[in-house]
Amino acid sequence: MRAPVLVTLCVWVLSDAAARQFTEEEMAAVRQRIKSMFYHAYNSYLDNAFPYDELRPLTCDGQDTWGSFSLTLIDALDTLLVLGNQTEFQRVASLLQDTVDFDIDVNVSVFETNIRVVGGLLSAHLLAGRGGLALEPGWPCSGPLLRMAEDAARKLLPAFQTASGMPYGTVNLRRGVSPSETPVTCTAGVGTFILEFSTLSRLTGERVYEEAARRALRALWGTRSDIGLVGNHIDVLSQKWVAQDAGIGAGVDSYFEYLVKGAILLQDEELLDMFLGKHDNNNNNNNSRTDHMHEARLTAGSPSEYDRALQNYTRFDDWYLWVQMHKGTVSMPVFQSLEAFWPGLQSLLGNLDGAVRTFQNYYSVWRQFGGLPEFYSIPQGSTVDKREGYPLRPELIESAMYLFRATGDHTYLQLGLDALESIEKISRTPCGYASVKDLRDHQLDNRMESFFLAETVKYLYLLFDPAHFLHGGGAEGDGSWEEGGEGGRCVLSAGGFVFNTEAHPLDPAALACCGRGAHDRRLRDVPPEPAGQSRPGREEAPPPSQSESIALKAGERKTPPLSCPVQPFSARLAVLGQVFTDGP
Ligand SMILES: *[C@@H]1O[C@H](CO)[C@@H](O)[C@H](O)[C@H]1NC(C)=O
Ligand SMILES: *[C@@H]1O[C@H](CO)[C@@H](O)[C@H](O)[C@H]1NC(C)=O
Ligand SMILES: *[C@@H]1O[C@H](CO)[C@@H](O)[C@H](O)[C@H]1NC(C)=O
Ligand SMILES: *[C@@H]1O[C@H](CO)[C@@H](O)[C@H](O)[C@H]1NC(C)=O
Repeated sequence: MRAPVLVTLCVWVLSDAAARQFTEEEMAAVRQRIKSMFYHAYNSYLDNAFPYDELRPLTCDGQDTWGSFSLTLIDALDTLLVLGNQTEFQRVASLLQDTVDFDIDVNVSVFETNIRVVGGLLSAHLLAGRGGLALEPGWPCSGPLLRMAEDAARKLLPAFQTASGMPYGTVNLRRGVSPSETPVTCTAGVGTFILEFSTLSRLTGERVYEEAARRALRALWGTRSDIGLVGNHIDVLSQKWVAQDAGIGAGVDSYFEYLVKGAILLQDEELLDMFLGKHDNNNNNNNSRTDHMHEARLTAGSPSEYDRALQNYTRFDDWYLWVQMHKGTVSMPVFQSLEAFWPGLQSLLGNLDGAVRTFQNYYSVWRQFGGLPEFYSIPQGSTVDKREGYPLRPELIESAMYLFRATGDHTYLQLGLDALESIEKISRTPCGYASVKDLRDHQLDNRMESFFLAETVKYLYLLFDPAHFLHGGGAEGDGSWEEGGEGGRCVLSAGGFVFNTEAHPLDPAALACCGRGAHDRRLRDVPPEPAGQSRPGREEAPPPSQSESIALKAGERKTPPLSCPVQPFSARLAVLGQVFTDGP
């Protein structure tokens, strides 16, 4: 009985004085401002940039960045529905079916294409009923958006054809992996597929996707160090760690996220055990109890699993530093903005105390700069050279959403309002919202990444709309039954939603429902193997991967080029050991 009291006390003390309370009217007013923000950016994209991947908000035109598949529109599709715009959701869903072609000669990041394109299409498919699209009889186990998602995913499969099963980071959508591709992939680029790929497999009955994702996860698990840590870049052919900094940020982040969310989405013990260790199945929903278990696990020790090792070696005063993966010695006392997803993830595991304290650390950085710089030196309390930008990332807002749901503390709404106001003030242009190049002088970059509309705006909106259907708590259509899956019946969205790392919601109920019927379904007319992509005997040529990642401290120029650039395909090792982008 002590734990709940402690949680409350903690939240109270840490929110420095009583948080301002928002009334329902104030929250509704903020939601309107968020919608205006969305439409300013979205309409600017349509008017000035479509069909390019991204809007360039300073020059008011468009450019292809991660592919050439109108990325911003795919990524923003489900946000339209989140904001309640069914008619535009319907228009864009059919526009994409008519215009997007994945059979193109373009080199893409396997990671980014999966989380943004496959993830975005899967979400839109799963929300099609709610969005008022015409549903074919087998929905949610079939449908045109699902076929598009599968079409994109199938073109990523050649990257997984390595001896280890760990994928190359880059693949050519038409030609497969280039023979000159680097075999070095970042950790997140290996371990961030299980949500999308298992969703595809369970909906379609085509097992190859989930199997590829699991094989990569098991291979990665096998490479952890004696003290239970992984580095941030690995050679997928030799299975040797090329960059040995362990932490929770760039290059690694969503790997841990997918172990936890994969465990939740699939009710999968293997994935949870990797992250959390063998656990007690009782009381998983009891925060006070899981908090207690969490602390007990940290002190008692158990076979090496990630959460325990990360808490033991990388956590200092509720910050998380980078450490050498074999020795556990600190290699870089830096907080990266990508790490700000961590408190939200910890709250999903019931570790609310730690999550709240870590969030407060990160929020103090936000308040210092009016945004989160890409890197922040903890001992110096300042930005890090060349990493002073804020490309409108969502992670702190995402954590605020989870923590507000878990605690009801209005401090998290205050962060949301701060974020909205900073973005309006610093980065709004006549044509959209521009990435902040330097938070100290508010210089801007001519980019608006697709995650701004997919994630940042979506999480902000969801933060201020606690009754939104994506927060779960009710089945679709007020508890009515939905037909689904070859004559089966499913209660969709009854179990809430799991967000992929690009904020695309997935419905566990649909997976369970279609998975149940998959055995009975006839083989579909989809080519089971990636057509002619793998040539046995040839050196696997792989690509760099890509996550929103930056390798830390990789050191020497002799090292193979790293594969997880912050911006597409232009990352190089820098003398300071960080990966910077070449171009402007
Ligand atoms: C939906 O989006 C379109 C395109 O921006 C806009 O014209 C329309 O007014 C929006 N509808 C609603 C209900 O917001
Ligand atoms: C893809 O990458 C390979 C290897 O770097 C390169 O040879 C090829 O020209 C690239 N293709 C395109 C379309 O950029
Ligand atoms: C949660 O766990 C605590 C401690 O084990 C227990 O006292 C409490 O009754 C549990 N609450 C619920 C709702 O199960
Ligand atoms: C925690 O780290 C210390 C070294 O700092 C190590 O000796 C100890 O075994 C670790 N404990 C666990 C449970 O990993």
